[in-house]
Amino acid sequence: MSDTLHAAPPAGEAVPQTDPAMRAMERRTVAHLAAGGTTDGGLEPLSIAPGEYTDPVRFEAEKRELFGKVALLAGFSCEVAEPGDVMLFDHVGPAILIVRNRQGVLNAFLNMCTHRASRLVSECSRRKLISCPFHAWSFDLDGKLVAMPGEDAFEGIDRATRNLIRVPVGEWGGMVFVKAHAGEETIDVEAWLGEMAPHMLRFNLAGASLVKHSRVETDCSWKYALDTYGEGYHFGALHPTTFGVTTVSNVILYDHFDPHYRVHFTNVGYRDLVGAPESEWPVAPYGGSHLTFPNAIVYGAPIGDGGSMIGMYRVYPGAEPGKSFTIMSVYRAADSSPDTPDEVFEAAHDFIEEVVTTEDYSVSKEGQRNLSHAPEGFRIVYGKNEIALQNTHKKIAEIIGMPLE
Ligand code: FES
Ligand SMILES: [Fe+2]
Repeated sequence: MSDTLHAAPPAGEAVPQTDPAMRAMERRTVAHLAAGGTTDGGLEPLSIAPGEYTDPVRFEAEKRELFGKVALLAGFSCEVAEPGDVMLFDHVGPAILIVRNRQGVLNAFLNMCTHRASRLVSECSRRKLISCPFHAWSFDLDGKLVAMPGEDAFEGIDRATRNLIRVPVGEWGGMVFVKAHAGEETIDVEAWLGEMAPHMLRFNLAGASLVKHSRVETDCSWKYALDTYGEGYHFGALHPTTFGVTTVSNVILYDHFDPHYRVHFTNVGYRDLVGAPESEWPVAPYGGSHLTFPNAIVYGAPIGDGGSMIGMYRVYPGAEPGKSFTIMSVYRAADSSPDTPDEVFEAAHDFIEEVVTTEDYSVSKEGQRNLSHAPEGFRIVYGKNEIALQNTHKKIAEIIGMPLE
């Protein structure tokens, strides 16, 4: 916590304050610590069959009913900040391109030419037109077909039916969501995030900037990988020399914003606040880990010489139930100090990737293997302290129309 302390501002400047929602979370955390290390949690444990992670029928239903239909976090507005900027979303379902038009509005299209379906864009650069690499049909930033070399050969076709094929998209609070199918819909992101929406605004994501991202392949179900972000029960055992040094195990805040959630883990520095008057608590940026259902974790953490980093971790299904991949991204938050160089954010990215890969995903892979050979009748059990996992698995089951077994 000490790294979030600010020096007293010069006379006349506003005194930095902790965000009220953050302060409310701090009070809850300190109360848990004062009570000897209690945690938020559910009412009872939940047992389920291993098929939740291994069943190919469930897996196909998740790709179809969940990833194919639900609004998915594609990135932050800073990645498509200017007219002509393109962001690709190519992680699940059809390849999608997201482009900001001249008026500053985001469009999303299938990344597919309407001539013979060639892929149009393969890198996220700025452009005036979207031109196909195959025969050079060109489309404007609103997807309108504006040039066809050798146009005479296509005499008689209705050009208006050859504009790019739209994909549902929405932008709000610095976040960009898409649905991984063709469609004209504008996604109401604020409505989708519901009661979690105002908390996401606290990150001021519109002012963030991407510093580094990477892709990690894992031999486990996307849900097994995602589960590791939703509980703080494992810090001491699994991360004794890494996250477990800075974070208290099993003291977790949980807020359910159906279907999303927020968890907040307990930095060891909070122990110093037990019994201390709030007036002496350091100023802290808004934090916590937020699941934008079904697969994207967004969290904030203090970094460097003040302010925060934003991490975004998105887990996607791989080629089969026991395979997945994670897109790990670290951003400089709008409130970060200009004195903190990018290298500090890059180092944070690399450290988290290393720990998640060698610790979390290492046990996930072994767990997945065991689940695929689990004896008849074996059931996984989630504790009350794994309430985020309980609720997420229940919600996925509800959406795919296959009750948990
Ligand atoms: S496939 Fe795109 S111009 Fe031919
Ligand atoms: Fe972990």
